[in-house]
Amino acid sequence: MQFNYYCPTELRVGRGQLASLAESVDELGKRPLVVIDPDVRKVSASAQQSCTVLSRSGLSAEIFEEIPSNPNIETVTAGAEVFRKHQADVVVAIGGGSALDSAKAIAAVAEHGGSIWDYIGDDLVPGPIAPIVAVPTTAGTGSETTPFAVFTDKGSRRKDGMYSRYFYPRLSILDPEIYCTLPPQITAETGMDALAHAIEGFTARTKNSLCNSLALEAVRLIARSLTISVQDGSNLEARQEMALASALAGIVITHCGVGAAHGVGMSLGGLYDVPHGRAIAMLLPSVMEFNRQAAPDQFAALHRVFQGADPDMDQQQNVAEIVSALARKIGIPVKLSDLGVRSEQIDELLNDAMSRQDMQNNARTIDRADAEQLLRTLL
Ligand SMILES: [Fe+2]
Repeated sequence: MQFNYYCPTELRVGRGQLASLAESVDELGKRPLVVIDPDVRKVSASAQQSCTVLSRSGLSAEIFEEIPSNPNIETVTAGAEVFRKHQADVVVAIGGGSALDSAKAIAAVAEHGGSIWDYIGDDLVPGPIAPIVAVPTTAGTGSETTPFAVFTDKGSRRKDGMYSRYFYPRLSILDPEIYCTLPPQITAETGMDALAHAIEGFTARTKNSLCNSLALEAVRLIARSLTISVQDGSNLEARQEMALASALAGIVITHCGVGAAHGVGMSLGGLYDVPHGRAIAMLLPSVMEFNRQAAPDQFAALHRVFQGADPDMDQQQNVAEIVSALARKIGIPVKLSDLGVRSEQIDELLNDAMSRQDMQNNARTIDRADAEQLLRTLL
């Protein structure tokens, strides 16, 4: 066995941790750029209060909130311009994966110039960037612990990820109170994304035994708390467990990667602007059903975790059926057609998806014919 493990992000977990935000930022810089999801700023008192505190605490904060759900080159270019004008020296990201990913990219472009598209790929950011403090408000992408950021090129309709060793947030604050205003649908879709990270990472071809325990713990937390978080958004215990699960699953995908649900899901995002969590959530049960036979030990371990989290569960169901039932229960779309994708678009979708590294990392070898069959059953 041989693997590496690295996660340099400090995590502060628990109710009340957000109170330390201004003090923590002050240790890293004096001129923060706050990259914040505008919807979060509108509805979350905690988020609004964080902006206020950062502006009144002796720090000079500038707010940037032009964040679409699938961030693109223009988002980053505009943000980098604001960063430079403000002469920012630390970036505070408050929001879902889009805000966190944008913050990382804005810091890179502001420091090193060019366009974000110059840095798409593996480790192309040439040097250090301003420190990132992440305050995630969705429990999903795991960007709070990963060195990844994902962007869409609107021209080519291509959605691609970038990895940089400089993208790990210096600090991530996981305070359950800030998740409480997240609407049920986004809670459901992003939570399923976190579940997909844990399951696809755990069963991926890239092995990392240290991450196995993190993946199984993330699955246990999600099995116990996702439905509660969707049905009762103010349940702080469930929100806390989902926040931790997302961070753990982020560490898992950093080391193990993902699989076919993400391969196809990224294409759905780039080509048809389907939000990431929704695309992944719809695909995950079918990809698991396809993969089951290739990783029997891992799927047996996942089954035990779901059983432990919910003793009332139907014991006859396999893990793919359990995840499918969970998805239906929390209102996830079950068909490609629910996402607006038609039969005649499958070729275009496959052309894009089959070129992705995630497909090669899938638990079971998946060729174009396999992928087409899988997608056609979802029409
Ligand atoms: Fe994802």
